[in-house]
Amino acid sequence: MRKLLMPKFRSVSHHSGLKGRFCAIVLGCFVGIASDVTMAMQTQEVTAKDKMVVEAVTRLQNFDIESSPPAKAAVLRYVQADFGSEQGLALIERFKLIGLADDLADFAVKHPDDTAGVRAASILFTLNKQNLLEQRIASENQEEAIAALKLIGRTGGKQCLPLLMPLIDDNAQPVALRVAALTAIGHRIDAQRRILKKVIAKKLPKELEFAAANALLSSRDDAIRKSADEHLQLPATADSQPLPTIAELVKRKGNAGNGKTLFATTGTCIQCHKVKGTGKDVGPDLSEIGSKLSREAMYVSILDPSAAVSHNYESYTLVTDAGDAVTGLLISETDDSTTLRTAEGIDRKFAADEIELFQKQPNSIMPQDLQRLLTVQQLVDIVEYTMTLKK
Ligand code: HEC
Repeated sequence: MRKLLMPKFRSVSHHSGLKGRFCAIVLGCFVGIASDVTMAMQTQEVTAKDKMVVEAVTRLQNFDIESSPPAKAAVLRYVQADFGSEQGLALIERFKLIGLADDLADFAVKHPDDTAGVRAASILFTLNKQNLLEQRIASENQEEAIAALKLIGRTGGKQCLPLLMPLIDDNAQPVALRVAALTAIGHRIDAQRRILKKVIAKKLPKELEFAAANALLSSRDDAIRKSADEHLQLPATADSQPLPTIAELVKRKGNAGNGKTLFATTGTCIQCHKVKGTGKDVGPDLSEIGSKLSREAMYVSILDPSAAVSHNYESYTLVTDAGDAVTGLLISETDDSTTLRTAEGIDRKFAADEIELFQKQPNSIMPQDLQRLLTVQQLVDIVEYTMTLKK
């Protein structure tokens, strides 16, 4: 994408009327050259004139952009040339460029964890176009659906509760999506109260317990924390200590050197993951995982793997007519046979006519209780190590 070399300007103008009038004159001069503008629009080039027009309209108070199609075209070109830039987003918000709502939604779901992505989502709410984010929750692309959930949790205000609470209860949805919905609203006290009620009534499904415990045990509200403590526990580690919440864990510092050793020994990670050519190919290659995941997401991936089963690593259980049952990743499937890779990294091939049952599993084949093998400090060390694995 083209970067614009342009001095910073204010998105909301507080300039005097005099300057405003000057800007209006500049604007009048430039937008008059219509043929030029049309040509530039076709090529989507941002001309020096565009930049001046953008600067001018930004300084005008109460300027109605709809009154000047050429000025609007210049602003649109400017915004599109570097979509998601701070100035661009400010222009969309200031001039209520509702025609860019789809682009905003596209941009936001690609950057759910960045300042710009979250800002794009909040502009959608300002433009009353949040339905574009809501639609993405139902997206076939799970990564996109989870991004939309996160954004709604971050920017939706009160509206996120009625939107996301039903998802948590919906058995028909993938576990990863339900966990993401819970986590997305888990920072809100009103959501925490509703989740706690489910916990006390024993109505919270097991697969959401880890996420619920993390949300409730790090509540700002003493009463919620205390009650959660009576009803929910984070799983115990190797030294029988309960796991601290993720909010706690991310603050701790580990020893990456120890972590590297533990990764290949006690932690058993290497039995499934490759790092720089060493290890098995059951899970994803982690050679650059530190560039992909935040420290928080790293802990979630390790401690609650089913919260983040990626599309390529869904596991299946296959039962043969002889009663053999095998669980693993789907490596290949043809008319004649199906091959699964087990958690031990062994590929098993079955002829189509011996398969009785073939079922997708809700859980990851990455063990759900790896923390049992490790002390808290060892876990922190492993995460410290994985965070060093960068591009
Ligand atoms: C039995 C196999 C297995 C073991 C053991 C295992 N993993 Fe995994 N891991 C997987 C699979 C499969 C995935 C793919 C996504 C999923 O299903 O969760 C995964 C995903 C991950 C991810 C997320 C990767 C991504 O691209 O988002 C991280 C991080 C991770 N594992 C770290 C670890 C660490 C650290 C250990 C050791 C403490 C470990 N794993 C042990 C199988 C395993």
